[in-house]
Amino acid sequence: MDDYQKTKAYWDDVFAKMSSSLRDVDSTGYAAIDEGLDWIGCKDGRFLDFGCGSGMMLLRLAKQFNAECVAVDLSGEALKTAEALFALSERCATTRKGSVEILGEMPEQSFDGVILSNILDNLSLEVASRTLEAIARILKADGRVFVKVNAYLERPALEEGLEHVEGPLYQESSGLYLLNLDDDAWRSLFSPLFYCVHEHRVHLGAEGSHVNRIYLLKKKEGRA
Ligand SMILES: C[S@@+](CC[C@H](N)C(=O)[O-])C[C@H]1O[C@@H](n2cnc3c(N)ncnc32)[C@H](O)[C@@H]1O
Repeated sequence: MDDYQKTKAYWDDVFAKMSSSLRDVDSTGYAAIDEGLDWIGCKDGRFLDFGCGSGMMLLRLAKQFNAECVAVDLSGEALKTAEALFALSERCATTRKGSVEILGEMPEQSFDGVILSNILDNLSLEVASRTLEAIARILKADGRVFVKVNAYLERPALEEGLEHVEGPLYQESSGLYLLNLDDDAWRSLFSPLFYCVHEHRVHLGAEGSHVNRIYLLKKKEGRA
């Protein structure tokens, strides 16, 4: 299932409207996210943000660690937004438009860390697995990954506004996908390639009602 045309159209629309409200900020506004990003960071390191959106998280690494930054997204409008945000703080990132196939073109062991924020759970299980394999290949030994995903939905919340596609994959009426995996299922997906070193919950939104899960991963020794 590699059809993300509706996803691309959705995010192109969102980011086309965002460019006028961009602000140069030092924090994501959430301590658990800032600390997770700092955990994957290292001075003068090279970092990839796959499904970067506005690029706000990657920009934090650029500022905190003088990092060299590569941003990948399916949405050309997201990449334009990320470029504009980096320009606000007089920094730049290399941008690549596309999906997991772009990762296959990148050299092995060429990144110190990778951000996967609210992207793995927007993919099918098969594409999410392929993405993790590609990330393990391009990460240096001991490279680190920041993963953030939505909360696991139980019934009946799962049935509200979501259509079942296959297995754990659901689709919103907007066209966005939700890969609805519980903690054990995410840990099993990570475990052949990564150690899960830390796990956190972050409460988002005005009243903190929207919970996201953060997994901080380290590449396993001996993985290409
Ligand atoms: C929920 S947003 C997250 C943005 C950002 N990572 C964040 O956490 O703020 C999902 C992003 O992933 C991108 N995206 C969705 N499917 C993708 C795919 N198959 N390949 C690459 N990028 C994708 C979207 O265009 C969008 O920018």
